[in-house]
Amino acid sequence: MAEQLLWGIIGTGSIAHQFARGLADSQTGRLVAVGSRSQETADAFGEEFDVARRHAGYDALLQDTDVEAVYIATPHPFHAEWAIAAAEAGKHILCEKPLGINHAQAAAIVEAARVNDVFLMEAFMYRCHPQTARLVELVRDGAIGEVGSIQAAFSFRTGWEPRSRLLDRRLGGGGILDVGCYCTSMARLIAGVARERNFTEPVELKGCGHLGETGVDEWAVACLRFPGGILAELAAGVRLAQQNSVRIYGSDGYLEVPSPWIPAREGGTATILLHKGGGTEEIRVETDRWLYGIEADTVAAHLEQRQAAPPAMTWDDSLGNMKALDRWRAEIGLEYDADRTA
Ligand SMILES: NC(=O)c1ccc[n+]([C@@H]2O[C@H](COP(=O)([O-])OP(=O)(O)OC[C@H]3O[C@@H](n4cnc5c(N)ncnc54)[C@H](OP(=O)(O)O)[C@@H]3O)[C@@H](O)[C@H]2O)c1
Repeated sequence: MAEQLLWGIIGTGSIAHQFARGLADSQTGRLVAVGSRSQETADAFGEEFDVARRHAGYDALLQDTDVEAVYIATPHPFHAEWAIAAAEAGKHILCEKPLGINHAQAAAIVEAARVNDVFLMEAFMYRCHPQTARLVELVRDGAIGEVGSIQAAFSFRTGWEPRSRLLDRRLGGGGILDVGCYCTSMARLIAGVARERNFTEPVELKGCGHLGETGVDEWAVACLRFPGGILAELAAGVRLAQQNSVRIYGSDGYLEVPSPWIPAREGGTATILLHKGGGTEEIRVETDRWLYGIEADTVAAHLEQRQAAPPAMTWDDSLGNMKALDRWRAEIGLEYDADRTA
């Protein structure tokens, strides 16, 4: 593991705050710089997290020679532009999910990381957490026998703010890209692990969605069929609160993950339930580490390989996920500007 990785953050919104808190708890990372579209917000963020280097403009942050790795925390449509610029500036990259608006953007980002020889990971923090590693182990070890079906939901109800990034189409609004990406990534992971792979791609995907007043999917569902007859039911949304959990049904029982996406944010116990033979076993995964700190440490641990190790997101895993999201969006007729210019 690198001794200390010096981080800069691009964008000072909601998740940037969460990540900065998690980074303070990481074993390898130190936040040294922040870049914002305005000096004022860079200063406010710098004040809050005791960061001395406060840049007005993301370019200025990328030119900061003290910064080794950047965390990109802008709305989705700007991930590609800044991840590619970061790669060209020789910075290692942790980029928020989804990696791009579509597969074409994600492929361009991956290519930029490859050409410029920098680390790149899509920031699915749940994939870095020991709960996910334990879940993978349970499926791989046959705890529920042969996997037949997966249910994954991530859906919440945001307030009515048409210009927010969650609802504005120009900012990549909608549930499929914001949270459906977690569900597709989980289904692809489990369907792959069930067949001795790190992940796998759906052979069939059917979807339905409800497009609201702003033209984005306020909620959507998808059915997937994977090799080996494994099926998945996914639900995502930004205007409908649902029960956010994962269930994996097998020939000998089923696994239930009550908190699959944000397990033990500040450390503590994450719980997987194994329902089998008429009883339920509680499998407790303990850690004193913060979720986003673990994510930052995952970057540091794999810097030399340029990509993370499964179940954290590898480049091909991210590309496959983006392709599934493109298919889901196509099913419901949801296009973004980037789809037309790709
Ligand atoms: N992994 C997770 O747990 C998690 C959770 C939530 C969100 N996310 C992802 O993180 C990204 C950001 O989400 P968020 O909830 O933090 O969004 P947010 O609160 O709206 O913040 C986004 C930030 O991006 C910057 N930005 C650059 N161009 C912008 C524009 N045209 N309009 C608005 N903001 C712009 C702004 O920072 P400056 O003003 O400083 O430039 C803004 O504060 C999204 O891609 C989302 O999918 C991940």
